[in-house]
Amino acid sequence: MTKIDPRDLSFDDWDEHFFPRPTEQEFDRVVERAISRRGFLGGALAFGSGAAVMGTGILKGSTALAQQTSCFAFEQLAPQTDGTVHVPEGYSWDVLVRWGDPLFSDAPTFGPASGHPSTGADRVFGENTDGMELFNKGDTELLVVNSEYPNPKINLPAGQEGSPASLEDVRLLQSIQGVSVMEVAEGADGWAVVVDSPYNRRIHHNTPMVIDGPAAGHDLLKTAADPTGTQSLGTFNNCGSGRTPWGTYLTCEENFNGYFGTTAELSLDDATAAGFKRYGVSTKVDPGRYNYHGFDERFDLSKNPNEPHRAGYIVEIDPWNPDATPVKHTALGRFKHENAAYALTPEGQVVVYMGDDERGEYMYKWVSRDIYVPGGDTSTLLSEGQLFVAKFNDDMTGTWIALTPEDTGMSAAEIALFTRVAATQVSATTMDRPEWIAVNPTATEAYCCLTNNSRRGALDDDGNVRTNAAGEQMVPNAPNPREINRYGQIVRWRPHNADHGASTFDWDLYVMAGNPTVHTEGPYAGTANINAGNLFNSPDGMQIDTTGVIWIQTDGNDDNEGDFEGMGNNQMLAGDPVTGEIRRFLTGPNGSEVTGLTWSVDKRTMFVGIQHPGSPFPDGEGVLPRSAIVTVKRNDGAKVG
Ligand code: FEO
Ligand code: CA
Ligand code: CA
Repeated sequence: MTKIDPRDLSFDDWDEHFFPRPTEQEFDRVVERAISRRGFLGGALAFGSGAAVMGTGILKGSTALAQQTSCFAFEQLAPQTDGTVHVPEGYSWDVLVRWGDPLFSDAPTFGPASGHPSTGADRVFGENTDGMELFNKGDTELLVVNSEYPNPKINLPAGQEGSPASLEDVRLLQSIQGVSVMEVAEGADGWAVVVDSPYNRRIHHNTPMVIDGPAAGHDLLKTAADPTGTQSLGTFNNCGSGRTPWGTYLTCEENFNGYFGTTAELSLDDATAAGFKRYGVSTKVDPGRYNYHGFDERFDLSKNPNEPHRAGYIVEIDPWNPDATPVKHTALGRFKHENAAYALTPEGQVVVYMGDDERGEYMYKWVSRDIYVPGGDTSTLLSEGQLFVAKFNDDMTGTWIALTPEDTGMSAAEIALFTRVAATQVSATTMDRPEWIAVNPTATEAYCCLTNNSRRGALDDDGNVRTNAAGEQMVPNAPNPREINRYGQIVRWRPHNADHGASTFDWDLYVMAGNPTVHTEGPYAGTANINAGNLFNSPDGMQIDTTGVIWIQTDGNDDNEGDFEGMGNNQMLAGDPVTGEIRRFLTGPNGSEVTGLTWSVDKRTMFVGIQHPGSPFPDGEGVLPRSAIVTVKRNDGAKVG
């Protein structure tokens, strides 16, 4: 059997490897049972025509037109399997920036086959681009972008097989993750980074941060370097993004657990040991995925067992002030944060929807105590309020359950620190890996990508349904109805009283991805808005543009075989919220995930992230593969979002 090197795997694949999916025999049995459910969820369960679909460069026209079979102004792209990006006829793409490109003129030069050295690694655009948002003041446009995790075999010197050999190597990896703030501008040759802009900034694994909210100062957040438990270093595994109405950036710490390890057997207190188990922090004495702990004591749990408690949060960054200290908002909970999607209640309270991307974890909502007043004090809006977790009912209603000390038996600080545990106390609904949530600006509704869950309904070796990290059995439930869910689905909800602050909602499934050419009936065929032309799996990234088009990005199996035949590489599709129609718009290079999407202020350019390409994209043979942001425009200059 070939030995798997964890450094060859994407983070999700790594997780899958160490927590493997069930055997083939179980899979076949479950498929057989699932297929026998004829007519099950035979189509997208439309809410009716609530969303106001306005004229745009993407949608052809009005709501009336949207009722027709085809409402998009582009021809669907065929699936692709090669090493580059494709867009429909009438559109063009270009590279804006790639890992290693300079943000400052003193950045090290990128060697085509060797990358860049550790010195100056915090002066270049980071690796594995993910969530991003664009901010503007007048003509100045800032793109703020996450760099989720490294590709050590590509980033570290050749011959080391992706293993750090020194603190210098660890510093290189730490420096190319986090967040890049960079000014961008469009000139005669297209879009480019404004090198040396006074706004350019790299935030990485050693950048000073402030911790606020209920967990700040808790004993479990104190370390030798920070006895106050309020000043941490670094933001980790920055996955999806968000923004606030007052113009700050939110970066979301996802698989933070993977950066910690131990060089000696551990003796932990009960709370810490239970927390490590629930959040997947390894207590084994081994190099782990990145072996930071082998060279940097801060990540060695035998010396600093509280360090992981200082990660797993929503972090707020002021893009306009390069000296501003980022703030970790513990009030919004500690879990494997995917993204943060805001809405305002009719009164003006700030709502932030958030997913916890792990099999059988939950969906959350924050509601601020105070209202947002443009130009007013915003200092309490992400620290004073109430965190809720979602419970979905079989009758297609749902409830946001408040995570309070009374109902969880935990203090406010403990709820902030061990949010997953609090949510389990109130019987939240286990979900199929909540990835991005998007709020529709043209209707009071929101959507969440539930990417896949290979363990849903699967049996363990003793014949029991497999559990999440809390020990809850992941039996199929209404919004996660498919056993061994290899394709994923998108759930949509409408808050009651058209108020995102309401504690109840109605929900449906906007789409269940599937493959009707391989599985002609049953839940693996997918909902009626899936057809041979628009096949995809594992919806992950998502944004809804100003006209109401849902942009869906995928991070799934791209081998184009078996259950995944006809899907091709990972991709970005456009969805109509009213008719449910979905069309493939863009495909990424083989091996890559398409993740991160935002628009220029004039909406004539779309910025799309290409993460971990599997071939030497975008520069071709002889140059290392480099994650990159590409721009997409219509050739006639019309708006694209
Ligand atoms: Fe970083 Fe769940 O994607
Ligand atoms: Ca993701
Ligand atoms: Ca994913």
